Amino acid sequence: MNQTATYNDKVVRQFAVMTVVWGIVGMLVGVFIAAQLIWPEMSLNISWLSYGRLRPLHTNAVIFAFGGCALFATSYYAVQRTCHARLFSDKLAAFTFWGWQAVIVGAAITLPMGFTMGREYAELIWPLAILVALVWVAYAVVFFGTIVKRQVKHIYVANWFYGSFILTVAVLHIVNNLAIPTSLTHSYPIYSGTVDAMVQWWYGHNAVGFFLTAGFLGMMYYFVPKQAGRPVYSYRLSIVHFWSLIAIYMWAGPHHLHYTALPDWVQSLGMVFSLILLAPSWGGMINGIMTLSGAWHKLRTDPILRFMIVALSFYGMSTFEGPMMSIKTVNALSHYTDWTIGHVHSGALGWVAMISIGALYVLFPKVLGLQAMYSTRLIEWHFWTSTIGTVLYIVAMWISGVMQGLMWRTFNDDGTLTYTFIEVLKLTEPFYLLRLMGGMIFLSGMFIMAYNLYRTWQTAPSKVAAVPVIQPAHA
Ligand code: HEM
Ligand code: HEM
Repeated sequence: MNQTATYNDKVVRQFAVMTVVWGIVGMLVGVFIAAQLIWPEMSLNISWLSYGRLRPLHTNAVIFAFGGCALFATSYYAVQRTCHARLFSDKLAAFTFWGWQAVIVGAAITLPMGFTMGREYAELIWPLAILVALVWVAYAVVFFGTIVKRQVKHIYVANWFYGSFILTVAVLHIVNNLAIPTSLTHSYPIYSGTVDAMVQWWYGHNAVGFFLTAGFLGMMYYFVPKQAGRPVYSYRLSIVHFWSLIAIYMWAGPHHLHYTALPDWVQSLGMVFSLILLAPSWGGMINGIMTLSGAWHKLRTDPILRFMIVALSFYGMSTFEGPMMSIKTVNALSHYTDWTIGHVHSGALGWVAMISIGALYVLFPKVLGLQAMYSTRLIEWHFWTSTIGTVLYIVAMWISGVMQGLMWRTFNDDGTLTYTFIEVLKLTEPFYLLRLMGGMIFLSGMFIMAYNLYRTWQTAPSKVAAVPVIQPAHA
């Protein structure tokens, strides 16, 4: 056994820094499009700045650039520590970093130019989609290769979640992107009609389930116990959580296609599986939150733990709301309205962004050879800006969403609509302003994080010493 082996923290550092960079870029675009919904003239009649082109830029930047870099950074960090092994291959790991950044830059150029596959969350044109597939295969080799060379028998539960996220995203991406190219920037999907819609939402929903959920649960299972200084509340529950989540998520996609040409029984199947999904989701949330039992007092002084617990609470909230919205009669009200946008961001800002931010604050000093971040007070400020920003955003969207749904379905006795579209839009405007404020407050927290990271970096040794791989007790 190689006693002098060290962890590869270089790639972790790179991905971690880019998480903050892309977080700021993606949310800046989010703030810009939120403002455009109030002042459409902000596009200045420049096609590159039009809402329709910037919206997918926002979703790609926050999900795949910000969320993706956070997942790469934390999974590479956690898999090495839990397996007592260096990453399987430094070269492949470096390829995943540079390849992923190339995909993001490619997206940032092609999407504003209007080149798109036209599939939500899978907009990238086929050459970029192929690059994504290559990077992803390399990621799988690095991750599972590290698991194979582990020095402990046990595979810690965080790795189960990260592993399932990596495998499933590969399958989803490849199946949903099967297309016949007609030029460098255009292709036709091999599916058509209802089948095409079903494949797209099987992909879309499982992108939520595995990219935005399973991967971040891996993060939760590693970083919450670490920061709380306690073992995970119930290992048994984590196993039940894992297998039930994996088994159920795959079937829930049709809830995105209620009242469409999709056969009715498929819609009902999606609804039933979505309702069942509440149980494993809450099992996971309880497992995370209860990990703090006996250490609740730490919440008073540790803003990083607070990030994690609030993230878990938002996870619980959005996974309660989702099943409710999947009930067909509720969906008849919520679909097409801002309620969906509120649901999305309670998951995206409250859960995905906040758990990532918490994990990054744990990870940064460790990979910079330091004990702690430059300022805990700034983390405190960041915590409050994130929490207040998220709450403002989602409350605004809930109110406007329900209002829109109710007004659109109000009829006069003669069957005509009571409210014109423009009347509803005018009433929505104040809520768009509130959402914009929430977004700006959340974004300001990201700048605080960047500043804190910069100051932390300044105190780091100019050449960070590589951390030796900890040998397991029996070694
Ligand atoms: C400063 C923070 C943010 C702001 C101001 C913001 C703003 C927006 C706006 C204005 C939209 C379009 C809504 C519409 O078309 O009606 C949107 C959509 C979306 N955003 Fe964000 N966003 C932010 C952060 C995030 C983050 C961190 C994520 C993910 C991790 C995210 C994921 C999404 C998704 C998935 C959609 C599409 C929703 C759908 O099609 O139903 N956003 N965002
Ligand atoms: C038990 C878990 C969940 C269930 C059953 C669920 C269910 C739903 C439902 C019914 C919709 C509305 C579909 C429509 O009317 O078009 C929706 C939309 C969405 N949800 Fe969830 N949700 C869950 C958790 C989450 C979480 C944790 C996140 C984010 C981290 C999330 C992200 C989204 C996104 C991005 C959309 C918008 C998709 C689109 O139309 O573009 N969901 N979800």
